[in-house]
Amino acid sequence: MTTAPLTAPPATRSDADWWRQAAVYQIYPRSFADGNGDGIGDLRGIISRIPYLAELGVDAVWLSPFYPSALADGGYDVDHYRDVDPTIGTLEEFDEMVTALHGVGIKLIVDVVPNHSSDRHEWFREALSAPKGSPARERYIFRDGRGEHGEEPPADWTSIFSGPAWTRVPDGQWYLHSFATEQPDFNWKHPEVHEDFLRTLRFWSDRGVDGFRIDVAHGLSKDLGEVLPSSAELKAMPKDGTHPLWDRDDVHEIYAEWRELFDQYEPPRIAVAEAWVETPERRAKYASPEGLGQAFNFDLMEADFDAGHFRDIVADNLAQSAVTGSSTTWVFSNHDGVRHATRYGLPPRAGRPVKQGAQWVAAGGPEDGIDRELGLRRARAATMLELALPGSAYLYQGEELGLHEVAEIPDEQRQDPAFWRTTAGDRGFDGLGRDGCRVPLPWTRSGSSFGFGEGGAHLPQPAWFADFSVEAEDGAAGSTLEMYREALRLRGELQGEESLEWDEALSGGDVLAFERPGGWLSVTNFGAQPVALPVGEVLLASGELEAAADGTSQLPGATTVWLRRSEA
Ligand code: GLC
Ligand code: CA
Repeated sequence: MTTAPLTAPPATRSDADWWRQAAVYQIYPRSFADGNGDGIGDLRGIISRIPYLAELGVDAVWLSPFYPSALADGGYDVDHYRDVDPTIGTLEEFDEMVTALHGVGIKLIVDVVPNHSSDRHEWFREALSAPKGSPARERYIFRDGRGEHGEEPPADWTSIFSGPAWTRVPDGQWYLHSFATEQPDFNWKHPEVHEDFLRTLRFWSDRGVDGFRIDVAHGLSKDLGEVLPSSAELKAMPKDGTHPLWDRDDVHEIYAEWRELFDQYEPPRIAVAEAWVETPERRAKYASPEGLGQAFNFDLMEADFDAGHFRDIVADNLAQSAVTGSSTTWVFSNHDGVRHATRYGLPPRAGRPVKQGAQWVAAGGPEDGIDRELGLRRARAATMLELALPGSAYLYQGEELGLHEVAEIPDEQRQDPAFWRTTAGDRGFDGLGRDGCRVPLPWTRSGSSFGFGEGGAHLPQPAWFADFSVEAEDGAAGSTLEMYREALRLRGELQGEESLEWDEALSGGDVLAFERPGGWLSVTNFGAQPVALPVGEVLLASGELEAAADGTSQLPGATTVWLRRSEA
């Protein structure tokens, strides 16, 4: 790996709008780089790789949870919101990391998990040791059970990770957990819950954090009433702002409070909502400038590699962001979904939306029916299209290496509760859970854990990681890493206003072409057959361009090219 010297920061938009077109790199801290050789990624590891991030050319880092946690859900089960897990580092190291990131012009977004704490959080421990009906239980959602002795859960609800959503405590009461048993849901009707999260947001903002990613932002507000609906009744209720559990209109009162706090900082702290809602209109509420300001748009993550689908999704989301005044977000991969290089190697799902990734275990096993080469080709084309769009692009660690989902993880080594709470055939997420995209990154071709650290890796790395390592791709012409670096560099150079114009003459069939200010043209061929290369200066292509028999250049299938049109 070339170690770029930490020179002067690249020109960044340091004003309040820095986030609007930012390329944000998501770090899943336990799997990024291990600084002390205990097999778990940590802040030291991140600090040591800041030159890599600077050379990659991202504008910001989003750090998944690094708070004290028993890892019942990869850190999304938080014991303490204002501290660093000792296996990951210390607050002093956190400060050092912020300073070092800022030193190279990279902003930092941290994850906030307000829907639930862990069952080891001091409030939950207090609730358990306090008697039924005591104020300590009011911060969570406790209920008596049904049946003669309360031996049945208060309702037949299932958690997002499958299995029951209610768990019984020793004195007979039950508590609600929308996710794993170890993740009790907070009661956001309680003023102390509000106060504590404001304190948390202030704590990290004061430490120089630039923004927040809000986990399960659509779940905080709940209105349960005396008689609980059945899960069939819940399912039948519209999610139009009045649903008892999800995407309630009054959740935005919480975000209005947070906005007030964010705006006390200069520049204002930003926030991006993870909100799984029914329509782009409902998503827009989270992206409102009076609320969180931005919301994840997972539409491309759920779409097949198809020109028509992509065009509709881009058009819809740009129209929506024009209404809210926010900028949209684009995501192909994150810590919850099957990596896009693998997803795009699977048979198409005909636009059938599959939440958070595709069902990727075909009948005969995880490798069945996957064309990994085609998947990576398409992933690279999709990424270049994404990086040409207005809006911010969220990139997930390892996608810049073209990493595939790792299938070869023995069951007993899997960590994801979404795997353990379900049985084959009934798996939420993607059939094998989410560990396959959380395997520690390969930094070198060989050596202990491919350079992740000296102490092995907490999830097994496959032999093919060698060819996808930073060492293998660094400086290698045409590698995915070099493509990302060049694309990010050009994006920074070319990006001006947020407008986009479809090129109707070039678009049609399998081709999608659009122009950005300054004559920057992005053309994607989603099909299998080559098409004529449009006129213009070629800036970058996601795959090699071909020569036709008559000597003219062609844009092969599953390829994106960026061109600059001379201003005529
Ligand atoms: C979000 C996170 C996911 C986590 C869940 C519960 O969806 O992205 O990783 O399991 O919330 O916190
Ligand atoms: Ca470590």
